[in-house]
Amino acid sequence: MLILGIDTSCDDTSSSVVEDGYRILSNVVSSQEEIHQRYGGIVPELASRRHLENIIPVVQSSLDKAGVSQNDIDAVAVCYGPGLIGSLLVGCCFVKAICYCFNKKIVTVNHLLGHINAIFLTDTKPSFPFICLVVSGGHTSLYRVNSHTDVVEMGKTLDDAAGEAYDKVAKMLGLGYPGGPRIDILSKEGNSYAFELPRAYLPDTFNFSFSGIKTAVKRLITEKGQTDGLSASIIKDISASFQRAIIDVLIKKIEWAVKTTGIKEVVISGGVAANRELRQRALSFGNQHDINIFFPPPYLCTDNGAMIAVVGYHEILQGRTSELDFNPKAYLPLG
Ligand code: KG4
Ligand code: ZN
Repeated sequence: MLILGIDTSCDDTSSSVVEDGYRILSNVVSSQEEIHQRYGGIVPELASRRHLENIIPVVQSSLDKAGVSQNDIDAVAVCYGPGLIGSLLVGCCFVKAICYCFNKKIVTVNHLLGHINAIFLTDTKPSFPFICLVVSGGHTSLYRVNSHTDVVEMGKTLDDAAGEAYDKVAKMLGLGYPGGPRIDILSKEGNSYAFELPRAYLPDTFNFSFSGIKTAVKRLITEKGQTDGLSASIIKDISASFQRAIIDVLIKKIEWAVKTTGIKEVVISGGVAANRELRQRALSFGNQHDINIFFPPPYLCTDNGAMIAVVGYHEILQGRTSELDFNPKAYLPLG
């Protein structure tokens, strides 16, 4: 079965053709980084306008790269939330139009379920049930995953997502957007023990909070700026100390989730899961505690159409498709 998967939930226009829910025939992602970086974050109106320009060439390119035409596609899976409403509207309206014209089935997909299922596009797949930490620019949530489409939310962030904290701290440090990959690179050269930053462990819950650390970094930047000046080496040390604090919390939550549920398979997905230190520390934590840790490759951690197609495939196997009258939703809780 060939599924065309489309995601326009945030600032990437992505389209992919996936066979039988796991074999990627094409995966095209058009990034809007150069548009938003001068503003230090995503400008929603600019994002939706660029999706509008990109959607037809991106989808056509994904069909061409897969070597198929629209007639070969069995169904179109589209992300309908959560996300930026203007961005979601472009993808959803486009999919309604092509499905109407070419008489194709539509499957609407929750973006977070997409991140959870990205791992099934790899060769090493977890077995159900597993724990999944989705850690991205818009979300930081922990799930118990019972099947491809049945998940239970164990906890989520009460304020900022981890990726959002990365992006905001990077902006304060003058590093530009998106901040995650830049802090990731700079941290390698910094001393992660240079500054002690607060960690909100929120014991006895699986919730997260990252707004306190952001404020602490802001205070530190002001203080250092007034005394020593923000030299390149201080920026590296702040980046590394910030990153260590964020990862300490993520690993601790995984440890508690494993202890509480007894489940020893853990998937880490979403944009921040591309982070090299997180990957390395989570894998060594897994080795020490006999826990299987799974990460999609970095290009499948960030937003992509292939993960949407995987969910679409499993929804169709269960006989679930949508009519043309569905609406995208900016707020769409999962599990
Ligand atoms: O999953 P994603 O592409 O979009 C959302 O659904 O939000 O995640 C984007 C987020 C951004 O906040 C970005 O800074 C962060 O993922 N990110 C990273 C890395 N690569 C992307 N954060 C830390 N380290 C990275 N290497
Ligand atoms: Zn995402």
